[in-house]
Amino acid sequence: MVTSVAPRVESLSSSGIQSIPKEYVRPEEELTSIGNVFEEEKKRDGPQVPTIDLKEIDSEDQVVREKCREQLKQAAIDWGVMHLVNHGISDELMDKVREAGQAFFNLPVEEKEKYANDQASGNVQGYGSKLANNASGQLEWEDYFFHLIYPEDKRDLSIWPKTPKDYIEVTSEYARQLRSLATKILSVLSLGLGLEEGRLEKEVGGLEELLLQMKINYHPKCPQPELALGVEAHTDVSALTFILHNMVPGLQLFYEGKWVTAKCVPNSIIMIIGDTIGILSNGKYKSILHRGLVNKEKVRISWAVFCEPPKEKIILKPLPETVSETEPPLFPPRTFQQHIQHKLFRKTQDALLNKQS
Ligand SMILES: [Fe+2]
Repeated sequence: MVTSVAPRVESLSSSGIQSIPKEYVRPEEELTSIGNVFEEEKKRDGPQVPTIDLKEIDSEDQVVREKCREQLKQAAIDWGVMHLVNHGISDELMDKVREAGQAFFNLPVEEKEKYANDQASGNVQGYGSKLANNASGQLEWEDYFFHLIYPEDKRDLSIWPKTPKDYIEVTSEYARQLRSLATKILSVLSLGLGLEEGRLEKEVGGLEELLLQMKINYHPKCPQPELALGVEAHTDVSALTFILHNMVPGLQLFYEGKWVTAKCVPNSIIMIIGDTIGILSNGKYKSILHRGLVNKEKVRISWAVFCEPPKEKIILKPLPETVSETEPPLFPPRTFQQHIQHKLFRKTQDALLNKQS
């Protein structure tokens, strides 16, 4: 495998280049679908990512409670992505998380390099940029900071940003609150499949084993946003992904054959159903294809927290209750690690085939 030192996209962006290096230019067939993200976000016609109000998720009133839960379940079935509002995490805490990440990325690149990860030797936590690790050599317009934030005993605080001072405190508190939110969501999704309330939570590793990994995605201004992507199209491998952002649009979802741009909903958390829940539910809950656009006017930052099962301990396969004679299992049994490898393999194969054609 060819490895190279990843260039920081931030340095490229601030160098004043007018055209982007060819590794960042998307293939021809993809370019036709990339538009101006601000124009796309304004569009009011066509399908929109649902907004789910969680205020009544634990209401004493059964009818009210069931209505709220049903909406969440339907959004997970139809879309696999939603804006969560009244999710119980305060605006103040979310602002603090955003300010802390922003302050870290405000540091000069040389300072951030002190936190650089080393993907070649398997140290994926830290500051990084994508390496061209598949046959296409394609790169994305982003730098990131990646670290495990929950369970607390599995964190490596020595690699967390020391600037700003409150980074650890606010990020840890956010992780704790997200972890409870994940339990709540998983219980509603369990009941929605006719399972016991705690079943999905248990199936993905429970409090001890479900890992929350935060990736702060930093997308600098791009001189040719119509040619690049901040994040290429993919489905998340996680069970659930929770996303905060700095109110700059970018996220697109592939829904009914078209790219739909997510609106920026104040104080919401975007939740994406990942492959893990897709597999366990035998495809009843959808793991939706999504990607990120960039723009030339504003830096976009998003804070994605991936809730992931342990890599080897659990075999993921459709739960027996989701399978029947008319609904055969859509996924073979694989560990989380095998699932990741399988996706990577398929992607490499596709890239090789495309190169040949
Ligand atoms: Fe994603």
